[in-house]
Amino acid sequence: MDRYCVFGNPIAHSKSPEIHAAYAAQTGQQLAYEKRLAPLDGFAGAVRAFVAEGGKGANVTVPFKLEAHKLADALTVRAQAAGAVNTLVFGPDGIIGDNTDGAGLVADITVNAGVPIAGKRVLLLGAGGAARGVVLPILEHRPAALVIANRTVATAEALVAQFGALAGPGVLSACGFADVRGAFDIVINATSASLNSDLPPVPAGAFAPGALALDMMYGARPTVFMQFAASHGAVPRDGLGMLVEQAAEAFLAWRGVRPHTGAVLQQLRSQL
Ligand code: ATR
Repeated sequence: MDRYCVFGNPIAHSKSPEIHAAYAAQTGQQLAYEKRLAPLDGFAGAVRAFVAEGGKGANVTVPFKLEAHKLADALTVRAQAAGAVNTLVFGPDGIIGDNTDGAGLVADITVNAGVPIAGKRVLLLGAGGAARGVVLPILEHRPAALVIANRTVATAEALVAQFGALAGPGVLSACGFADVRGAFDIVINATSASLNSDLPPVPAGAFAPGALALDMMYGARPTVFMQFAASHGAVPRDGLGMLVEQAAEAFLAWRGVRPHTGAVLQQLRSQL
């Protein structure tokens, strides 16, 4: 049976084995998928050991996405753009690094939430690894504007410098939270603030009436960002849909078939 795994540290909490087992059952694919705790100073060794055991591919989660980017022998365009890798494919030509996080987010917004990105004003909060991974997939959907707001404005400006040429004139811009102007149809929280129950200081007026406010985090209760957005007329959404969609994209990269995600999303939601 073809073997896959997810590497992280910690890893006990990972829902990926459950998600991929469900996708395998649904698509009739024979595969095994396990969790692997990689030592903080031993990620590359853990990957090579799994390859030597006959592993066909792996997912990579915190804190190894940058190391996975360095380790790969070749990178997909979206992994290059993201500067991080969450999916590894082990083939005859070595280790291919891919990044399915951005495609997962965009699929969750456009398909699961049913909100088209084309022609919309999009506000991206944060400019770290999570934000960088979604800039290219969002731009590919041709938003009217994509504003990247970050506490450290220079980091957001660096993303504009990296991706500006791929956007139409004036589409992509950067600012600090206090300088966010106008209302947005889609607001995405890609900061790690929710981990500490913090709220990125985005102006309440940033949410257009009925705007989609998506936090990449998820948990049993809405994050402070989701609560804030809901209290200002937005429709909140957590990162669980992004999680199942990035997994579906990884499954597609490995197996050539994209599973349906709806039932798995519902199942995970009921277990939160
Ligand atoms: P990740 O991979 O989760 O994106 P990261 O690369 O460390 O992690 O980036 C964290 C992001 O969250 C950054 O944009 C960070 O802002 P700075 O660039 O100014 O550090 C942002 N962030 C973290 N805590 C925050 C907080 N309390 N309020 C606002 N932004 C925060």
